[in-house]
Amino acid sequence: MKTQLVTGGAGFIGSAYVLQVRARGARVINLDKLTYSGNTKNLISLANDPEHIFIHGDIGNRELVRHLLRTYQPDAIVNFAAESHVDRSILDPDIFIKTNVLGTGVLLRQSLEFYQSLPSDKQKKFKLLHVSTDEVYGSLNEKEDAFTEENAYRPNSPYSASKASSDHLVRAFHETYGLPTLITNCSNNYGPRQFPEKLIPVIILKALQRESLPVYGNGENIRDWLHVEDHCEAIACVLEKGAPGETYNIGGRAEYRNIDVVKSICAILNELVPHSDGPYEKLITYVNDRLGHDYRYAINCTKIESQLGWKPRHTFTQGLRETIQWYLKNSAWINDVQSGSYLEYQQQNYHDRGEK
Ligand code: NAD
Ligand code: DAU
Repeated sequence: MKTQLVTGGAGFIGSAYVLQVRARGARVINLDKLTYSGNTKNLISLANDPEHIFIHGDIGNRELVRHLLRTYQPDAIVNFAAESHVDRSILDPDIFIKTNVLGTGVLLRQSLEFYQSLPSDKQKKFKLLHVSTDEVYGSLNEKEDAFTEENAYRPNSPYSASKASSDHLVRAFHETYGLPTLITNCSNNYGPRQFPEKLIPVIILKALQRESLPVYGNGENIRDWLHVEDHCEAIACVLEKGAPGETYNIGGRAEYRNIDVVKSICAILNELVPHSDGPYEKLITYVNDRLGHDYRYAINCTKIESQLGWKPRHTFTQGLRETIQWYLKNSAWINDVQSGSYLEYQQQNYHDRGEK
């Protein structure tokens, strides 16, 4: 049985990945700090699974990472661990620099030391895959071509700058020391178990609670949406078939304006849970814009499609409906994550923001 060290495997995308890897039979060592967005309930179905070994800890803890690598001897490392929310990075960038830049640096150094200790047959098979974002490429206007792997890095938020820095470190460890690394840059994910700070779960939960639905600026900003399971399948595909040192863009070819996403959620809710006070659209409220708000992201994923044979399986229309149905069925999960620190963040990001 193969072994993967997965970092950040209790988060939204990491947990979906861990579930897929276990379904395929590989052993998972899951290192997660359990920040506000990390949630062991995401992995409840693996509670009695001896091949899922959960370690509560920080990628920036050098001794712990070294110990895990020596003890479990993974064949691959997949790094999801990060601070992931742009609005939080605007409120306080420090932890983004600490985890995303310095933490990734520690993980890379320890991985290199481990890699160099391996016999050559194991070295040939070893890979470290770093999960990154399309936001490192900056913002597009309406007419520009979608991002390819050749686009220059132009990050605009503290979050995307910290992810860009980590990508550069990963690249440098490959070029300088020969560590077999892969980088994936993916567009906006949606699906079950996404922490309710990102657009889609924010709108679903606020709508169900009959709160106003906050649309930043004029709602014209465009994102390219991909179902989380498609993203995880793409990562597995890159890990298996990708060439060390290469970068692969991942996206859903599903560009939508924010206001259209919000209206689609309202339309599905009107159908599934009609409310006597009238349609959910009534709750839409335009609020002051995000600072430095990127206008448009769009991914050209021709490279992974043509070279590695990956394709997304979900359409946005069907995936969005299923995601809403998941939130409707999982009120215990929702109640669990809407804790003290969540309410504090809601106050900071929304109540102090003001309407347009
Ligand atoms: P998330 O916030 O839901 O999960 C992050 C996980 O990392 C949490 O479980 C958290 O506890 C853990 N973590 C944070 N700091 C850690 C540390 N120092 N050590 C160990 N664990 C730590 O985020 P997500 O949406 O699942 O994103 C996962 C990765 O994918 C991130 O690297 C993010 O940049 C990238 N990404 C996200 C999207 C998206 O749309 N959500 C798109 C492209 C790329
Ligand atoms: O593109 C990939 C990135 O997608 C990932 O790297 C990030 O981890 C992930 O958070 C996401 O970043 P965005 O900033 O695009 O996602 P978010 O869900 O925060 O916002 C999506 C769009 O919706 C964005 O234009 C801002 C807008 N928005 C967001 C929130 C939370 C609103 O209008 N209202 C809101 O309440």
